[in-house]
Amino acid sequence: MKLKHSLFSRRQFLNGLIGGWVGAIMAALVYPIVRFIFPSYKEPDEVILLYADYKDILPNSSKIFPWGSKPGILKKNDDGSLMAFVGVCTHLDCNVEYQPEKRKFFCACHDGWYDEFGTNISGPPPKPLRRLFISIEGEDLIIKKEGVE
Ligand code: FES
Repeated sequence: MKLKHSLFSRRQFLNGLIGGWVGAIMAALVYPIVRFIFPSYKEPDEVILLYADYKDILPNSSKIFPWGSKPGILKKNDDGSLMAFVGVCTHLDCNVEYQPEKRKFFCACHDGWYDEFGTNISGPPPKPLRRLFISIEGEDLIIKKEGVE
């Protein structure tokens, strides 16, 4: 059986198909750009870690912990005290690492450097690493952002 007429022509069908492909490709290209410009990162107020997992850090060394979707860095000083930082650069949010042999934090993205206490000392980082606040309660290592009671 042959239809006398269809709801749309072959040309309309092909235009719709091509338009759909172009739209899908554009969405796939634009979405990551929009996510980069407007990230949906929600920072935690605090994280609670098991202190036993972190108490054996050697002086002048560090260990990573999860700070929301970003890394946190827990560093032990020579006197045994602990410091915690958000482990991302204050320039453009690249991850930083502690280099014990140089006693500095390093950001490889644009050669940014921070001293062992997180103060920006060379390269493009405009301000120090963000400090987090540590307390130890029983078996818990509690790490909070500034201003959280
Ligand atoms: S992102 Fe770290 S120096 Fe640019």
